[in-house]
Amino acid sequence: MKKIAIFASGTGSNARKLVEHFQQHAHIKIALIASNKPHAPVLNMAKEHQIPVLVFDKKKFTDTDSVLPELQNHGIDFIVLAGFLWLIPEVLIRHYPKRMINLHPALLPKYGGKGMYGMRVHEAVRAANETETGITIHYVNSAYDEGAIIFQKSCPVLAKDTPEDIAAKIHVLEHGSLPMVTERLVRDLGDRVLG
Ligand code: GAR
Repeated sequence: MKKIAIFASGTGSNARKLVEHFQQHAHIKIALIASNKPHAPVLNMAKEHQIPVLVFDKKKFTDTDSVLPELQNHGIDFIVLAGFLWLIPEVLIRHYPKRMINLHPALLPKYGGKGMYGMRVHEAVRAANETETGITIHYVNSAYDEGAIIFQKSCPVLAKDTPEDIAAKIHVLEHGSLPMVTERLVRDLGDRVLG
């Protein structure tokens, strides 16, 4: 069984899609949901599904002497950042090379970097009068939104679309793609020795 941890800080609609997708899976399981927000709705969803949760503050997260062993205790092989906004410490990046991905709500390298998340991205896309936007799934490295791109999918932005309309289109793309891309990547881990 390969075990995934989801890091999420918000509503967790993508986390829910992942949980539903892997619920009956024979070889892949969502084994942990981690968050920096003790009251994030995503944690209620985890409890609903009897998935263990891990909550940390900035100090504990940056001092990964404590977060890494917790991931290891849960036997985590792969990490999905789905609406998680903090920079990932080097020790976690080193420990999960090509085994940690981030979901970003724009076509990177456009509209990425520190401070570019959630509605801020859609507002910037609207303000720039883009005619298309989309989603990116990429490996995580030590810079915000700069790891190697794995997957992108675009959608049109119409002149009448508000940032909320754009957000809704992006969520449809994310929900339709993230579980499938995650499954492919975790399956491809194959028999590599995982720590
Ligand atoms: C998603 O749209 C995701 O792409 C975005 O946060 C949202 C979380 O939604 N992530 C970022 O902006 C990261 N820079 P959700 O809580 O409903 O899954």
